[in-house]
Amino acid sequence: MTERPGDDLSSPLVPSDPTARATTAPGPAASDPTAADETVPGTAAVDAAVPRGAMLRADGVTLAYGSTVVVHDVALAVGDGGVGLIGESGSGKTTLARALLGLLRPHSGTIRYGSRDLGSLDRKGRAEFRRAVQPVFQDGSEALDPRMTVEASISEALTTHHRMDRAARRARVTSLLEDVGLDPAVAVRKPHQMSGGQRQRVAIARALAVEPRLLVLDEPTSALDVTVQARILDLLERLAAEHGLGYLLITHNLGVVDRLCDTSHVLFAGRVVESGSTRDLLTRPAHPYTLALRDAVPRLGGKPPRPSGRTEAAPAASGCPFRLRCPLATDVCRDQPPAAREVEGRRVACHRAEEVLAGVPNRPVSR
Ligand SMILES: Nc1ncnc2c1ncn2[C@@H]1O[C@H](COP(=O)(O)OP(=O)(O)OP(=O)(O)O)[C@@H](O)[C@H]1O
Ligand code: SF4
Ligand SMILES: [Mg+2]
Repeated sequence: MTERPGDDLSSPLVPSDPTARATTAPGPAASDPTAADETVPGTAAVDAAVPRGAMLRADGVTLAYGSTVVVHDVALAVGDGGVGLIGESGSGKTTLARALLGLLRPHSGTIRYGSRDLGSLDRKGRAEFRRAVQPVFQDGSEALDPRMTVEASISEALTTHHRMDRAARRARVTSLLEDVGLDPAVAVRKPHQMSGGQRQRVAIARALAVEPRLLVLDEPTSALDVTVQARILDLLERLAAEHGLGYLLITHNLGVVDRLCDTSHVLFAGRVVESGSTRDLLTRPAHPYTLALRDAVPRLGGKPPRPSGRTEAAPAASGCPFRLRCPLATDVCRDQPPAAREVEGRRVACHRAEEVLAGVPNRPVSR
């Protein structure tokens, strides 16, 4: 990720693969002088253009770096409330997030903001999109310029999208800092003069400054210690409710989405292997990988999950990608990739989902 997500929007990282779909590049930089005077459409216009139901939607999205496909045929939608995206390191979470933020073009499939394809947004539409969909990354310092004070950082976000005089700007910075639970006195500090949790609060305040509709939260707490994590999650939950925000919460920890997301998607090797209500995924997983993630959820105050002591097998190149780790793998898993299908109210890509739900013991079988 770049240090300045707002600026990053100016230079979308396009896969070098020449076969990548030639959609229109996402918009000019927030800091682009040609965009600085752009009039931002008012909220009413946004409301008319973007149905609340599914503000941001990916359909059949495949993403590649060069010729390496890292996200395969993913569909998900974020509207009101929280949606979780869970997967281990390297599963493609950030790649998908970048595509949803307009920073990476799909190799195939579509990403729509409201009813409009991100690639076909005009200048005004792109400006509105950049305002409405705000990222929050793992480490608050990614969003903050180390040379700028907190006040300057938040003011910059404010003035990119709204014309404001100095007094109004200061008042708004104070109110945003209070909103994220910080003493407004931190306004004079630079990022290195704050704790990780404080920096993440400032990054959240900066994202909120432009009155977004939706947040893409990429592991927003994973760089923080456990008690600070819990406080930041509380904060996000409160702010989302108070500001009526939708959000995509990306994490490798299934426990994190439990309270904040009604719906979740589990990603393995760039494929969604199970989607459904977060409660169902936690209480009755239907995919062996979801089951493994559920069993690895660290509990506050409890014992950490036992390390496996071995490196996890890489995804299989044929058949089911999870089969080299799966205790239920059979010959059919080796021969046929499982298609996603509906099973007991969730969507799951596993030949043996019914047996997983029925609690078949996880014993090794022939591969
Ligand atoms: N700029 C890039 N160029 C080439 N490959 C990349 C690039 N960024 C990521 N990848 C690869 O794409 C795959 C998915 O990476 P991604 O960062 O999306 O995973 P992630 O799920 O966010 O992982 P983490 O939990 O570690 O953040 C990985 O194999 C990674 O090595
Ligand atoms: S399809 Fe087979 S290998 Fe893949 S997760 Fe299901 S049981 Fe395991
Ligand atoms: Mg990531």
